[in-house]
Amino acid sequence: GRGKTEVTVLVLGLDNSGKSTLLNTLRPPEQRLPHVTPTVAHQQDHFQSGGVSFSAWDVSGAPRHRALWERHYRRAHALIFVVDSADHLRLVVAREELALVLAHPDVCARRVPLLVFANKCDAPHALAPTQIASALGLERVSDKPWHICASSALSGAGLPDGVAWLARQLR
Ligand code: GTP
Repeated sequence: GRGKTEVTVLVLGLDNSGKSTLLNTLRPPEQRLPHVTPTVAHQQDHFQSGGVSFSAWDVSGAPRHRALWERHYRRAHALIFVVDSADHLRLVVAREELALVLAHPDVCARRVPLLVFANKCDAPHALAPTQIASALGLERVSDKPWHICASSALSGAGLPDGVAWLARQLR
């Protein structure tokens, strides 16, 4: 009803980082799918936290689809960037993609909160969130509130804390 804050959040990250799994886990239990499949172009999802109703856009992370991300920037109130903490080799690619997002005219001039999920924290050799933060160069992001959270989209660990932080930024 009225009085509830409704926001649009864009969920970005390289392919295979866990975006679709994460959004599926954020659903109410009875709406969860038993399996998630790679996102074809983009799909919309919904979740709630701290009195905020999120409309989430899961945008495919496949290289050929990354150019589509920017179509969504303008109406996003917040960004979630999902990183595979165990994919050491592609951290540099993730850093480049995040830098491109943050430099885009529809993003850089706006104070959109940025939540980074250091996902797959359950995986062997997963890096700690502080290591992911420095690999992504997050310390240099000074014009937006940002937060990094270890998560496991499979178990749901870390997801409530992360989205609660986002809700506090947006209420
Ligand atoms: P695209 O749709 O291709 O952009 O990928 P995506 O980012 O949506 O990734 P998706 O959710 O499809 O997950 C990719 C693979 O990683 C799947 O096999 C998931 O089961 C697995 N996965 C996702 N999250 C986790 C996690 O937290 N831990 C582990 N161990 N595996 C995960």
